Amino acid sequence: MPAAADPLEALREEALISLSDARDDASVELWRNHWLGRSDGRLTILLRSIKDQPADQRAAFGAGANVLKVTLETALEEKLESLRQAALARLGTEGALDVTLPGRPQLRGRLHPVTQTMRDCLDAFAQMGFRVFEGPEVEWSKYNFDAARIPEDHPARDMWDTIWIDTAAGDPREILLRTHTTPNQIRVMERTPEPPVRVVVPGKCYRHEATDATHEWMLTQIEGLAVDEGVRMSDLKGTLYQFAQTMFGRDRKIIFHHSYFPFVEPGIEMAIDCFICRGNDSKCHTCHGTGWIEILGAGMVHPEIIECHGYDSSRVTGFAFGIGVERVALLRWGIDDIRHFYSNDLRFLRQF
Ligand code: PHE
Repeated sequence: MPAAADPLEALREEALISLSDARDDASVELWRNHWLGRSDGRLTILLRSIKDQPADQRAAFGAGANVLKVTLETALEEKLESLRQAALARLGTEGALDVTLPGRPQLRGRLHPVTQTMRDCLDAFAQMGFRVFEGPEVEWSKYNFDAARIPEDHPARDMWDTIWIDTAAGDPREILLRTHTTPNQIRVMERTPEPPVRVVVPGKCYRHEATDATHEWMLTQIEGLAVDEGVRMSDLKGTLYQFAQTMFGRDRKIIFHHSYFPFVEPGIEMAIDCFICRGNDSKCHTCHGTGWIEILGAGMVHPEIIECHGYDSSRVTGFAFGIGVERVALLRWGIDDIRHFYSNDLRFLRQF
């Protein structure tokens, strides 16, 4: 090979020839160290020598050396890219990469079992002419308690351990995470100057609760309210009976017990026969040995609540109910512990 007249040109040729000889990433790496290595790469040394050139040649030499640097760096990038392309092509021809294979399936989301159950419950009531209304989860104490006839210091407040919201100013017991959806009975009547009222109100409620198989600190309820002339207890029972049959089929047993809630008179609870023990195990932890699982509280709306919205309680009456949606979901699918719902375990959730 004839020696190039220009020493930079000679270096360029030598470097590019040896780069084109490199067959894999490892030999390219050796080449990079040899030419571009930070401390003793040959080009690095050359660049360092610019300052030692005779003054009249220094500028031209410097310019040429920098062009050479860019040339080598570009050649290096191109070499690496062509090695990458060759490796990919080999993968294809050697069969390691089968581009005809179907793609990986996308994981599909689905509705949470409690959401599914809630929607089915709302559908059951929609068929009976109930409309859906929604109210706030962060609620005034006066709606959650006072308007529902649970004044401060009334023992009925002990029915719920409450999660209060701290506010910078004012009474610390003014705002809370609602303990039930019942405040929406009041909110709906406030907005409806004249009966009839027929609504269902779904939503989350919160209680500072010791959790167990049938109690969670966050729960989903559906409040129901019907107010009109001539609404009677038998209407309430018929409505709830129809609801239970739609949700659970005709074979399940239903029982009504007397119960107490300050906002209804009289008050009842509805329970469904225990799907775990069918009433045969006195130690059953799902029904606590009673054979029944309570799924809702209900009753005839207290006349004082009807009156305070300007309705005439001698003319109109109403019934109300509050359903525990998680309980309904437990019963539907035979789930033995309510805590599964919010433990975010996909193995559980994928089953629904
Ligand atoms: N609010 C009651 C509860 O959370 C349920 C209920 C609603 C009872 C309406 C009677 C009437 O337990």
